[in-house]
Parts: sequence; C-alpha cells; structure tokens
Amino acid sequence: MAYLELCDVDFSYSNGFEALHHVSMRFEMGEAVAIIGQNGAGKTTVVKLMNGLLKPSRGQVLVDGVTTKQQRTSQVAAKVGYVFQNPDDQIFQDTIGKEIAYGLVKKKVEKSAVKAKVAAAARLCGLEDEMETHPYDLPFSRRKFVTIASALVMDPKVLILDEPTAGQDAPSTRLLADIIQGVMASGKTVITITHDMEFVTKEFSRGIVMAKKHVLMDAPIAEIFENDEVLEEAHLKRPYIAQLARSYGIRGVLTDEELLRAM
Ligand SMILES: Nc1ncnc2c1ncn2[C@@H]1O[C@H](COP(=O)(O)OP(=O)(O)OP(=O)(O)O)[C@@H](O)[C@H]1O
Ligand SMILES: [Mg+2]
Repeated sequence: MAYLELCDVDFSYSNGFEALHHVSMRFEMGEAVAIIGQNGAGKTTVVKLMNGLLKPSRGQVLVDGVTTKQQRTSQVAAKVGYVFQNPDDQIFQDTIGKEIAYGLVKKKVEKSAVKAKVAAAARLCGLEDEMETHPYDLPFSRRKFVTIASALVMDPKVLILDEPTAGQDAPSTRLLADIIQGVMASGKTVITITHDMEFVTKEFSRGIVMAKKHVLMDAPIAEIFENDEVLEEAHLKRPYIAQLARSYGIRGVLTDEELLRAM
C-alpha cells in the first residue's frame, strides 16, 4: 500500500473556485518526486491537501492508510512535513533557534533532546551560527532554510518542499540538493515543487506535471522531457542542456555528462 495517496480528489476554495479536479497520485516510501507546472496549476493546493492543511471537497487523501478527514491537521503534519512556498507564512518566533525548536517544544520533547535536534537541523541548513539571529535579519532565500530546518527537526516520513529553489544561488541550491539526498538516504520520501528544470533533472527520478487543476503526466523525468505535447500544454521548458542537445539533433539528453557521452 502506498504511504500517501490522493484518490480522485476535487478541491474548491471557500470562494467557490475549484483548484483541483479529479486528481489522483500515490507515493511510496523512499521516493524523490518533483511536482512541476505553470503558475496557478494547483501545485501548492495539492501539497496542502497531502499535509492536512486542506481537506478534499470530494475524494480521499490517505496518509498511512487513514483519510485526512478523520485526522487533525497536526496529526497529519507529524507524518507529512510541509515547508511553505513563502517562509513568512510560517515564521513566528523572534530567533532562529526558537523558530526551529518550536514544534519540538510544543510536543514537550525533553530540553536536552530539543537542543541536540535543533543544532543538527540548523547545521544541515547552514544556520548553526545564526541561532540568536532574528529570522527577518536574514534574506528571504535563507529564511526559507529556517523553515526547512523547522520541518527537518520534526523528522516526518514525507517532506514536502514548496518552491525551495526560488531565489537561491548556486551554493544554496547545492545545499538544498544535499538536504534532499540526506532525507532520501534515511528512507523517507521527498516531494518538491519547483520551476527549476535543471534541479528537477539532477535530483529527482519521478515527475508529476500539473496543468489547469489536474495531473497531465506522472512519469520518470526523462520521459516527461521527451513529451513535446505535455511540455507545451504545461508551458514547461526543457533544461538548457536538453535544448542545446536538440539543436544538434540529439534527443534523450538531460545532463551535461549525457551530452558529452552522446557527442
Ligand atoms: N485561498 C484561495 N482562495 C481562492 N483561490 C485560491 C486560493 N489559493 C489559491 N487559489 C487559486 O487556486 C489556483 C491554484 O493555486 P495554487 O497556489 O495551488 O497554484 P500553484 O500551482 O502552486 O501556483 P504557483 O506556481 O504560482 O505557486 C490558482 O488559480 C489560485 O489563484
Ligand atoms: Mg504554489
């Protein structure tokens, strides 16, 4: 049985706008999945359903075999951690140390364990020297890492990152990749929404393409970037290397190593 599953889900916001229509997807443990698609496709809505922040209007979201409708948001969130698209929707404490510790303190985890776990999560996110810093004294891109550390510290089985690559420079994108690989190495599942197609090809094996309220394609990344029709409908561009390869008439290439080999 899949650990996380959306079964024929519709979702409408309270103003009546339908953001998802007939959406199904399933995730096993140990997967790295990228959700891609143009602005407004429904990506954030779909992951908020996975972590229990939203409940489906029709259909079911099952986490560990139980519908999210029968669980409190906090129960679902303990299993499926979600890092918001905008960190400022998530940060409330006045120091980074307190912000990362918040969930553990609320769970009444013992003090010395909190300290150790927070230090480890901060180190993974490059924040070990910022524990007393006010979150808003860091730029947006690093505030995003504060929220990633806050999710990591809770050790969820599934980690969802909503556009973590937005506004990140090359070293920070590398750090993100290391974090994702670390989570994967512990047998967990990582689901990431991103508009960075280079990042998608490097870090993920499976992709889910969303367009206009529904899933257009759910397949290995290499197959997605071979499908002209899907790319066009979802307004997605191939990674630069794939575009370059095609200009030489070479298909099926996504990374620079593959291009070198093909040439
Ligand atoms: N609270 C809300 N109330 C009403 N409509 C909403 C709400 N939040 C999002 N929507 C609408 O639902 C649709 C899907 O939004 P969603 O945020 O899931 O898209 P997205 O794929 O994450 O886009 P982006 O890439 O811009 O983050 C959009 O048309 C959006 O305007
Ligand atoms: Mg979004």
